[in-house]
Amino acid sequence: MSVQKAGILRIIRLQVDFSSAKSGRGACKNPGKTAPVTVTVPAVPRILTCSHPAAGCWTGLRRPQHGRLKQAISVHYLRGRLKNCLKIQRHPGHARGKIICKAFRVPYNLATQNCFQVLRTMTETTVNKLREHVGEEVVVKGWLYNKRSKGKIHFLLIRDGTGIVQGVMVKGGLPDETFQLGGRVTQESSLVVTGTVRKDDRAPGGYELELRGLEIIQMAKDYPIALQSHGPDFLLDHRHLWLRSRNQHAIMRVRHAAVKAIRDFFDERDFVLIDTPIFTPAACEGTSTLFEVKYFDDKAYLAQSGQLYGEAAAMAHRKIYCFGPTFRAEKSKTRRHLTEFWMVEPEVAFLDLDGVMDLAEEFVEYIVQFVLKTRRVELETLGRDISKLEAVGRPFPRITYTEAVEKINAAGVEMEWGNDFGAPQETALGRRYDRPVMVHRWPARTKAFYMKRDSQDERLALGVDMIAPEGYGELIGGAQREDDLETLEKRIAEYNLPREAFEWYLDLRRYGTVPHGGFGLGLERTVTWLCGIEHLRETIPFPRMLYRLYP
Ligand code: 4AD
Ligand code: MG
Repeated sequence: MSVQKAGILRIIRLQVDFSSAKSGRGACKNPGKTAPVTVTVPAVPRILTCSHPAAGCWTGLRRPQHGRLKQAISVHYLRGRLKNCLKIQRHPGHARGKIICKAFRVPYNLATQNCFQVLRTMTETTVNKLREHVGEEVVVKGWLYNKRSKGKIHFLLIRDGTGIVQGVMVKGGLPDETFQLGGRVTQESSLVVTGTVRKDDRAPGGYELELRGLEIIQMAKDYPIALQSHGPDFLLDHRHLWLRSRNQHAIMRVRHAAVKAIRDFFDERDFVLIDTPIFTPAACEGTSTLFEVKYFDDKAYLAQSGQLYGEAAAMAHRKIYCFGPTFRAEKSKTRRHLTEFWMVEPEVAFLDLDGVMDLAEEFVEYIVQFVLKTRRVELETLGRDISKLEAVGRPFPRITYTEAVEKINAAGVEMEWGNDFGAPQETALGRRYDRPVMVHRWPARTKAFYMKRDSQDERLALGVDMIAPEGYGELIGGAQREDDLETLEKRIAEYNLPREAFEWYLDLRRYGTVPHGGFGLGLERTVTWLCGIEHLRETIPFPRMLYRLYP
């Protein structure tokens, strides 16, 4: 009940019908603007005619009636608990005789039901909750998504942020004025509608609104995004509006669910969230993709990864994760690269490469399951083949880099041992499996300075990449870290990294070093795969790419 939900001081526009106890009708001449609750007050003469929708002002009340109203209410209804709940007072800004009716958390229970005979309730609700209000008249606030008219019927597609519902207006079924307004309302105008909820299996979402009232908050003029397709550049230039479109709306909700799954997964397993800095003094993932910024009289780099700081925190908390934006000055204009993207990076003390892979597969399975459970409707909206995600269960295949090279060549894609994978290689390999595949033990020269070498083969680094199926490429990069001081000092020199900037990192090997490892999962890569869409730029609200910094 709206009455129950009304917070203190919020005018809920309690409409009191004073016509008669029996008929209980006729109080309001403006059904599109009636109040959320209609109640009858028996044996009190009709004194109210109409309520002002915006302010909750009650008009048409003369002074003596005001008194009678107060009296009636106090005699009949303000006993006991209701006393502090319902208050009728004169509106300070209004002429004599006009009052407003405020309801302060009116409890709707048996006691009040005995006082007020509820004839009709009008609850403000949202599209995702319409199923709870079948047969009731409700108020929905939102925007016009689209419209169709067939002479005597208007179909208004109304979106309210939680979903889209079709509102139907039939000429004659509501005031003429309202029907005409329905014909004039433009795409993306903001509005308030009143209507009865009907279950209709043919309607998108399964419910429909039989409209009785329409109030325009703002009539939008010439909304630039038509519902037919536009080119990607046009859409990206209008990203601030494009976010309202059905598919973009669905993608953001999948992203939200993925983020929640990520946090829940680590929180449930006693990982501590550690926020790592964005201004950093040095590279983590190679100097070629560093963004340099002026830092007072010095220079700094935007973080490519939080990992090195995560390692420090893992020595303090054992199991940690960081989750935030990371930056790569990627000059490549591919559908898998952003210059600003979100990465989640767990780091764990006393964990070797196998442990890293165990954690990674459990994690990815968890995210997929959670999204399947909570965002099925959105995945369907996007036309995602859900069976492909349902197949994603542990164990994930684990193959060495050397085996992967053979498989890629066998698939007819050229691949020389010693090189990193490009998109064609990742795609060729990923397509061979129905779930993500983990490729481990990489040629050390393809990987970062911090990876531990394989004691069986010094050419190899104990790194792992997780490659998605269906051609979605690398989701995860991770490794067991080099934990020996001297070896790490040697690597820093080999990779030509500025030693001073890494002194603190070397301290972690000086004071109580232990085997440890972790990985980074790219959120946008993961959401692109979950949604089954072409390009990862649609998975972040405002993508940053080579040549794109607007809006
Ligand atoms: O493989 P990467 O570079 O690994 C690291 O940064 C490690 N320091 C992580 C760690 O061990 N803590 O990046 C990890 C993931 C990639 O697998 C990919 O999903 C994503 O981050 N990623 C990008 N996503 C979008 N745009 C880019 N330019 C990306 N670069 C990496
Ligand atoms: Mg990588």
